[in-house]
Amino acid sequence: MTSSAISLSPANVPSSRVYDFDVYSPAGIQEEGYHQSWKRLQNPGVPDLIWTPRNGGHWIATRGALIREFLNDPEHFSAQVMIVPKAAGMEHKLVPMNMDPPQHTPYRRVLNKGLGPREIRNFEAAIRSVAIELIEPFSNDGYVEFCSAYSDIFPIQVFLAFSKLPLEDASTLTTFAHEMLRPTGNTPEEKAASMAVANAGFFEYIGPTVEARRAAKGDDWISTIIHGEVNGAPPTDYEVLAMIALVLLAGLDTVVNFLPFAMEYLARHPADVAELAADPQKIPRHVEEMLRRFPVVAQARLVTKDIVRDGVELKSGDMVLVPSTLYGLDERINADPMQLDFARKGCSHATFGGGAHICAGMHLANMEIVVTMQEWLARIPTFRLRPGFKMVAHSGVVADVERLELEWNVDVRS
Ligand code: HEM
Repeated sequence: MTSSAISLSPANVPSSRVYDFDVYSPAGIQEEGYHQSWKRLQNPGVPDLIWTPRNGGHWIATRGALIREFLNDPEHFSAQVMIVPKAAGMEHKLVPMNMDPPQHTPYRRVLNKGLGPREIRNFEAAIRSVAIELIEPFSNDGYVEFCSAYSDIFPIQVFLAFSKLPLEDASTLTTFAHEMLRPTGNTPEEKAASMAVANAGFFEYIGPTVEARRAAKGDDWISTIIHGEVNGAPPTDYEVLAMIALVLLAGLDTVVNFLPFAMEYLARHPADVAELAADPQKIPRHVEEMLRRFPVVAQARLVTKDIVRDGVELKSGDMVLVPSTLYGLDERINADPMQLDFARKGCSHATFGGGAHICAGMHLANMEIVVTMQEWLARIPTFRLRPGFKMVAHSGVVADVERLELEWNVDVRS
């Protein structure tokens, strides 16, 4: 998907707005890390709306106010294409993620019913069991590579449990999901072909479940969707399959990669860990601030009508990045934004997006993160980075953390 070739700027782009920024490889990421490399787009003097010639050429809204405004204006900024380069984004047709209101609204209502706060609360004990079963086996080892032992596995197991599907299907599902999210192949055609094969494989896997639950409604979220209503009729089989695939995919990379950022921060801040271990009631509030400080998504929109913003003209057909990643890191939105301040008043972020497409899984995501912290700290109340270890994260539509090596003294645990 990466295309770092430089495109010529179109006539509507003033040269003062041209900045060289590659969403898949931002300058400084290796030395400064993912968030700091994005934060460079808010350095003094950088305009609120810039153009980069990378990845087919696209605008970037760099400040919170404009990001929020664009996310809330589907009439000009459509979700039909939400990935750059535009040619790659046009390959994705997710239901209802690539729809705009009003077409999007009835599908979203159905999703909200399946993934609402009450549904998620009812499911808390099951999420907790998944977390405990993953943490217990390594908690006496004094060392873990967190990504492979926990964060890569946990969301997929939660998805299976939440969907009332057998946990033994985890490796099958991981294979499909991996191919759908990061398809193999060297050319766009090869990648599209691998993605189509994985999609078909997933549909074949989940199809019989959909059929069975259409015949006999269960109390699970898939049944809620199947028996929901879209424009006066239940969603079609294809729509149901596509919505299940979306929930699976949207809930993987995001949780998979947020968790290591949060755990790496805690590993470097023993006083915060001690505070949370002593009073787990504080965890939900701390998680909110960590969500603000460690956003992981950089989504885009397609401009569908010419519009003037921040003194420049965006033309129909242009792409604009509206990165969730930058919103909460903007000092015009949150004072001293790179600092984690757990007593922060009015912590504001767009880590779950904004507008019609605000994350449909945020209640589940929040529960997954809080439960992880609670169950981890109950078993491993002090931990640190393995000496010499430095976390490596890549940038993209969703940030991607390679490894996180943590260690702790087994004997000091209560
Ligand atoms: C830390 C974890 C998560 C983060 C940071 C996150 C972030 C986001 C963001 C930024 C969007 C909006 C994208 C856009 O505007 O283009 C989004 C949409 C979405 N997310 Fe999440 N997400 C997370 C977890 C989850 C989970 C666990 C699920 C599934 C249960 C989920 C399901 C969805 C769905 C279905 C959408 C599309 C909503 C729509 O188009 O109406 N997400 N998420």
